[in-house]
Amino acid sequence: MTEVSSSVAAGPGAAATIDDGTAGPAPGAPAGRPGRLTAWKAAGARLALLPLRLFLGVTFCYAALDKLSDAHYLAGGTDPASFVSQTRAVEGGGSPVASLLGPALHHPTPFALLIAFGELAVGLGVLLGLWGRLAAAGGAALSLSLWLTVSWNVSPYYLGNDLAYLLAWTPLVLAGTPYLSVDGYLARRAGRDRGRGLSEDHVRRRALMDGGIAAVAMGGAGLLTGSLTATFGREKPSAKPKQAAAPAPAAAAVTVDAATVPLGGSAQVKDPASGDAVYLVQPKAGQYCAFSSVCTHSGCAVDAPKNGQLYCPCHGSRFDAATGAVLNGPATKPLPKYRVTKEGDKLHLGPLES
Ligand code: FES
Repeated sequence: MTEVSSSVAAGPGAAATIDDGTAGPAPGAPAGRPGRLTAWKAAGARLALLPLRLFLGVTFCYAALDKLSDAHYLAGGTDPASFVSQTRAVEGGGSPVASLLGPALHHPTPFALLIAFGELAVGLGVLLGLWGRLAAAGGAALSLSLWLTVSWNVSPYYLGNDLAYLLAWTPLVLAGTPYLSVDGYLARRAGRDRGRGLSEDHVRRRALMDGGIAAVAMGGAGLLTGSLTATFGREKPSAKPKQAAAPAPAAAAVTVDAATVPLGGSAQVKDPASGDAVYLVQPKAGQYCAFSSVCTHSGCAVDAPKNGQLYCPCHGSRFDAATGAVLNGPATKPLPKYRVTKEGDKLHLGPLES
């Protein structure tokens, strides 16, 4: 049977040390196969959160460096993919925390950097297992704020990834990062110190100081990496937003009744070449156009046009339903546009134009 005992080390992220019996069979337990099986099960339970920890840590580091190397992220309000434009869109988009966004709109650059470097600190903290519970709480706070802002209008709710991230952080907030981690090392050493009869006060102070030194070293490394990425890894902003790479033209045409595309509404057809859904729209009376439904940010399907916009539920990009242009990022490229011709009461979907 597994015997569990815990000793909590000092320091904000220090975690419980669990003697789960994987070091060897418990006294009196039968040796051999059943003992090994028990050990494997215990090791599996002990490391169950490791894949989640790796995923979240790598993802948050990647997201941070992606932001810092993106020329649009720190650009001004005229760039629809900039932090300030996205925040403005959130403010006017019915977020329950819209009234709290004033400081971020007044000081967009410090806030944008705070988010990017916060993600980097969270990612590194969780990967190294340094003050892991605190890092996970920071990750949960970031995910919560993104859910209440960027992902708030995603419908149905389960398509919004920030809610999933928020829930994914929860086990790490509860369990910390006691294994294969700096926290684990500090907790084991604190246990040894207690065994040597050192005072609890001394043990706590030592764990806190060493954790602090490791956190400062990690913060310095993160700051250096982030700054180098922002300085040398950032693509230069171009005067004109980049156009999407021209996809292969659709070979076949599709014909529909013009009456199926109402004014201000849309009809959905399929591009026979790619199989992608295409929205045929009529933004003004007698003016027809068609756009791919594939979001140019990360490939999610945008919603059907509503109020003159096409909305992407994944990260909140908005596109103009008359031109396909980006109204709000994070997408930076317009939706691919198809040629549409009208003959009598028929509409013909031609090949991609852009
Ligand atoms: Fe990210 Fe559309 S896939 S906004």
